[in-house]
Amino acid sequence: MNVAIIGTGYVGLVSGAGFAEFGHRVVCVDKDESKIMCVHNGDLPIYEPGLEEIVKRNRQAGRLQFTTSLEEAIPGSQVVFIAVGTPESRRGDGYADLTYVYEAAREIASFLGNYTVIVVKSTVPVGTARQVARIVREVNPGAEFDVASNPEFLREGDAVFDFLNPDRVVIGVESEKARRILLDLYRPLQKKEIPILVTGVETAELIKYASNAFLATKISFINEIANLCEEVGADVQDVARGMGLDQRIGLKFLQPGPGYGGSCFPKDTKALLRIAQESGVACRIVEAVVEVNAAQRARMVRKIRQALGGSEAGKVVAVLGLTFKPDTDDMREAPSLTIIPALVERGALVRAHDPQGMKEARRLLPSEVLFCDDPYEACSEADAVVLMTEWNEYKNIDLSRLKRLVRKPVFVDLRNVFSPGDMEKAGFDYFSVGRKP
Ligand code: UGA
Repeated sequence: MNVAIIGTGYVGLVSGAGFAEFGHRVVCVDKDESKIMCVHNGDLPIYEPGLEEIVKRNRQAGRLQFTTSLEEAIPGSQVVFIAVGTPESRRGDGYADLTYVYEAAREIASFLGNYTVIVVKSTVPVGTARQVARIVREVNPGAEFDVASNPEFLREGDAVFDFLNPDRVVIGVESEKARRILLDLYRPLQKKEIPILVTGVETAELIKYASNAFLATKISFINEIANLCEEVGADVQDVARGMGLDQRIGLKFLQPGPGYGGSCFPKDTKALLRIAQESGVACRIVEAVVEVNAAQRARMVRKIRQALGGSEAGKVVAVLGLTFKPDTDDMREAPSLTIIPALVERGALVRAHDPQGMKEARRLLPSEVLFCDDPYEACSEADAVVLMTEWNEYKNIDLSRLKRLVRKPVFVDLRNVFSPGDMEKAGFDYFSVGRKP
């Protein structure tokens, strides 16, 4: 099948490479010439384990192409995916900015040839696919097409694996013809017996928001339980395990920490609240989830202050990990972006390290932050070491070497990577989340 993907950001690039891996002929289109040039030179605009290999393999096989020209990509494609960005609107009011989606719809419309299924893959408020259909009809009244919604559930850092082995695929369609074509597109997954759920368009759009809001709820829930554990002397890791072994609850997404970040949960929870508000429906649980997440970051700042003996002023704080999670260079909504400025504001001297995120972090963090190429260098003369993101590199850090480097052996583990017993043996004053120090 011939497929065009508009937008070579995160979702577009991974999906394009993934559909090519299924055996389809895929053209990825992006307006940004520099991005397309990058790919032509064998350089990907994002870091994602395994992506480079499948892009290379499928380009060599002639199944994956990149271009800036919609005119080249659209007319021969049976399926066109819109995978452009939907950032939070610049007004900061929680609405998703749909400018790029509607612009893509307008542009696609003018190049449509034979019957085409236009699929919205970007995360969009309920009703967007229908609006895309209106736009296409307006621009090209004679066009033969259907719109569909096919939300993406990729996790950064595991995106290639998730695309090729998803828990489920959700397809929102309005016509039998579109349904058949999209089921055909995902045939390799059907063969692996991966469930493919076919729904209406609005339902598919809402499944994406409801899923992300539910996962965010699990995180805020366990973070509140962690805070309670600290007060009553319980251990949140055991509480989470004890809960999670009940299969109705499940073990995943019950890891406490500094709160969720990234390009999805913060944006999608707020967008869901906007959708609910506009529909006159209360979503009080999601409201609380967002509040708890903000409060958790503030609580982490207080935890670090406490570990420093009550004041940040003049203290050297080594921060290990800046990205919102490991195995990505993505700094969007990373907890470090609120926690570090709060420390700097109160006089801490922050020395930071991250395996992938430092380039972006330099742009986003206060100029006073000192960036170090090596985690040990960051910890040198530190009054406290704060583990902010659980990169493997830090999980395997040499604690005795660290102890010799720091000024004070104080370790604040915001991801509960280490065990209190091991840290005590290593001679550190250890603070973590939801466990007794
Ligand atoms: C998330 C969802 O997991 C994907 O299913 C979805 O497709 C994606 O958003 C999206 O909407 O595009 P992602 O943002 O890449 O994926 O990252 P996650 O691995 O879900 O982590 C999000 C945040 O939650 C991170 O800051 C992570 O540290 C935090 N988290 C996650 C916890 O604090 N505790 C947990 O137990 C799990």
